[in-house]
Amino acid sequence: MADEHKNFIDGQWQAARSGKVFENRNPANRNDLIGLFPASGADDVEAAVGAARKGFDRWRLVPAPKRGELLYRVGELLRQHKEDLARVETREMGKILKETRGDVQEGIDCAFLNAGEGRRLFGETTPAELPNKFAMSVRVPIGVCALITPWNFPLAIPTWKLFPALICGNTVVLKPAEDTPHTAQKFIEILNEAGVPPGVVNLVHGRGEEVGAALVRHAGVQLVSFTGSAAVGREIASVCGQNLKRVSLEMGGKNAQIVMEDADLDLAVEGALWGAFGTTGQRCTATSRLIVHRDVAQKVTDALVARAQKIKIGDGLDESSDMGPLINQQAREKVLRYIDIGRQEGARLLIGGGVHEAGACAQGYFFQPTIFDRVKPSMRIAREEIFGPVLSILEIQSLEEAIQVLNNTPYGLSSSIYTSDVGRAFRAMRDIEAGITYINGPTIGAEVHLPFGGVKDTGNGHREAGTTVYDIFTEWKSIYVDYSGKLQKAQIDNN
Ligand code: UN1
Repeated sequence: MADEHKNFIDGQWQAARSGKVFENRNPANRNDLIGLFPASGADDVEAAVGAARKGFDRWRLVPAPKRGELLYRVGELLRQHKEDLARVETREMGKILKETRGDVQEGIDCAFLNAGEGRRLFGETTPAELPNKFAMSVRVPIGVCALITPWNFPLAIPTWKLFPALICGNTVVLKPAEDTPHTAQKFIEILNEAGVPPGVVNLVHGRGEEVGAALVRHAGVQLVSFTGSAAVGREIASVCGQNLKRVSLEMGGKNAQIVMEDADLDLAVEGALWGAFGTTGQRCTATSRLIVHRDVAQKVTDALVARAQKIKIGDGLDESSDMGPLINQQAREKVLRYIDIGRQEGARLLIGGGVHEAGACAQGYFFQPTIFDRVKPSMRIAREEIFGPVLSILEIQSLEEAIQVLNNTPYGLSSSIYTSDVGRAFRAMRDIEAGITYINGPTIGAEVHLPFGGVKDTGNGHREAGTTVYDIFTEWKSIYVDYSGKLQKAQIDNN
């Protein structure tokens, strides 16, 4: 019998009101049933939002440094459970242990960063224009936040949203991806163990179309923070737009690494391999295009192909594996569709392009590392997000052309340039249209204390992480204190 897990509402573990459940299976071996999770509906959302509302009335009054102390405890517990959490993650979403340990580490970093913010959350004081009057601005919490999170960073991304929400005095309802409910469950157990008061953090499992949609439409939810596909993000944004609800969206990418002819080529190849095939290409920051100067294109391509051939595909729980499976069957079908599209568009498939089902991989969603060259900027494989281990190589002849090609997608999350010319590096920093630019590093590997997010169809102008995230999770309130004892009229008495 598989373990049956529950939602967490108002400090209690509860089954879905309908009694329905869904299965969670290991993408490296679909015979491995991890557990059953509640297939929740609108009535569970109703209960969770109600609990979060009640929780908010108390939580917003807890001093922020005290809220920070709770996050320090959460950080410590995450540290203690790092290895178990990494294993839970790998088993349910496939990426290799080295990476899931990194994912948990990102959550730990995020806990301590936000815990410290409990003693900052700075506002401004400024002179008032009238005598005996004091002026300041402070951050105030927003209320109940719906956090809708993806499966590719099943711990880190919920922490990016939940810790800032909490430190600012909000309460939350977390709706994790259907593919990774177990990591969310473990995360909530840790928050509970750390002493989060009832109602402050609620967990509702289930499908986006049901739980996500009910949360987004609920009048008691003041803010929606979503990471996922641009298609779903657009729908969420339009519902939130109708209801004038704050919404922060973190969506797709079509990230590129530029390699100029003056670059350290070994370093550039190393970076491209990690950026393209790390996490089986399933990061929104993954490198899916390599834009190479034609003078070094052959050399770089040969080296990449030789290295990609050596990538050991296998179960992420096996320490010797370099690359785990894709998340599920739909993901595999999508990647296969793009392989066909690439071929039809006239790109040349250099390596990979198919599923990997050899030996112990037969029951998983494994896919070969894939490289296309002779890719043109107008091709769909150069413009659309594939979210798999597929790298498209495009040749260019100048920095200007490289940047133009890089910018030629609807997205703008991460970007990279390898060059030894500091002038070229600065031009790239200025002209690349992306939220993140790396110089002589791959497109992946953002740190939690810098803003994270992108331009164009990647987002809607917000930035998670860093200090910018507090602009998502707070409202500004301006406060004037007049201690003159008389009516003073701004803009009038002075002039
Ligand atoms: C994501 O792919 O959604 O910068 C997040 C990185 C990680 C986060 C990726 N720190 O690659």
